[in-house]
Amino acid sequence: MNNKIIIINGPNLNLLGEREQSQYGTITFEKLKHNCLDKSKELGLDAEFTQSNLEGDIVNLIQDARKKYDGIIINAAAFTHTSVAIRDALSIFKKPIIEVHISNIYKREEFRQKSLISDIVTGGIFGLNDNGYILAIIAIQKLLKNEN
Ligand code: DQA
Repeated sequence: MNNKIIIINGPNLNLLGEREQSQYGTITFEKLKHNCLDKSKELGLDAEFTQSNLEGDIVNLIQDARKKYDGIIINAAAFTHTSVAIRDALSIFKKPIIEVHISNIYKREEFRQKSLISDIVTGGIFGLNDNGYILAIIAIQKLLKNEN
């Protein structure tokens, strides 16, 4: 049976393509979703691609993921820098988690240079544009394959 992963996107990522192209490029959210689902399928993963602007929704998704998914890829967007609730929910998920950021958060404003989740996730990718999602899918597939 295929491993199942969920790709969770935080606030404002639904506006990719429209928002701050100098940071996030021109790819639209729909195109990113399509690319991620394609790559997952190619690697034998069943993937769900989600987005929410609401912190509580993301906490619920992570909690529900315990029973439904073998791994999480998360771009928590602005909540990366603020949400103890998302950090706590991720801490309860005992399977691989990869943190992704499209931009290099360590080259940006000081408030973005702190991630509240980096020290509890399996690994992370930042600053590699939308390719970061594809690299995260490749990485999580390898992690899950080695577990079985
Ligand atoms: C982001 C970086 C965050 O600081 C920002 O709030 C985002 C996107 C990224 O993918 O580079 O919304 O997570």
